[in-house]
Amino acid sequence: MFYQPAQGHGLPHNPFNAIVTPRPIGWISSRAADGSDNLAPYSFFNAVAYVPPQVMFASTGAKPDRDGTKDSVGNIRETGVFCVNIVEYAAKDVMNTSSGLYDRDIDEFQAADLQKEACQTIDCARVAGTPAALECKMTQIVRLDGDANFVVFGEVVGVHLRDDCMKDGLFDVTTYQPLARMGYRDYTRVTEVFSLNRPNEA
Ligand SMILES: Cc1cc2nc3c(=O)[nH]c(=O)nc-3n(C[C@H](O)[C@H](O)[C@H](O)COP(=O)(O)O)c2cc1C
Repeated sequence: MFYQPAQGHGLPHNPFNAIVTPRPIGWISSRAADGSDNLAPYSFFNAVAYVPPQVMFASTGAKPDRDGTKDSVGNIRETGVFCVNIVEYAAKDVMNTSSGLYDRDIDEFQAADLQKEACQTIDCARVAGTPAALECKMTQIVRLDGDANFVVFGEVVGVHLRDDCMKDGLFDVTTYQPLARMGYRDYTRVTEVFSLNRPNEA
């Protein structure tokens, strides 16, 4: 089939986010100017540069108690920092709990019964015990076409790697099995990897 999004897809469910899969999940922690903590998953998330290392996530839609966006973007606008917590398969249910539509003053760490740790380089909480966490300073927030579509870019200024995931100097994802987002209500997890050398590589 072929469809043009502006004219509709004619399917029972929008296939768009089933096409761009699997997507990593950035579990974004942020802190408001009043000191309250926030946590939410974003699968429009990726790494976008090496030097300096940079990441992005995209927020689509708005909360009724926010000025045209969601709490994560609102907080990052106020304080300029955020942390990306990496989601292991074992954390799938608490990650999902943290995605609920909570009032802006609700702390999703508490709602999902998660322990916090302080970030080292930024004034923000992170989820204790995640396989990895990226402490980020926001570099820009870009408004996209459409209603309440924003991309938040950040420079990674601190990196936490859980010791049990380090094997012979490599970060071994099979130890924790990264959770990834598929379309609809579907997820997957990484349980095996294989390697390919690039052309002209030894
Ligand atoms: C696995 C998963 C991925 C999600 N990805 C996104 C996303 O990329 N962008 C988005 O706007 N919302 C996404 N959501 C929904 C947000 O997590 C949800 O709207 C949340 O309440 C936003 O929280 P906040 O207002 O505290 O930022 C996702 C939810 C789940 C469960």
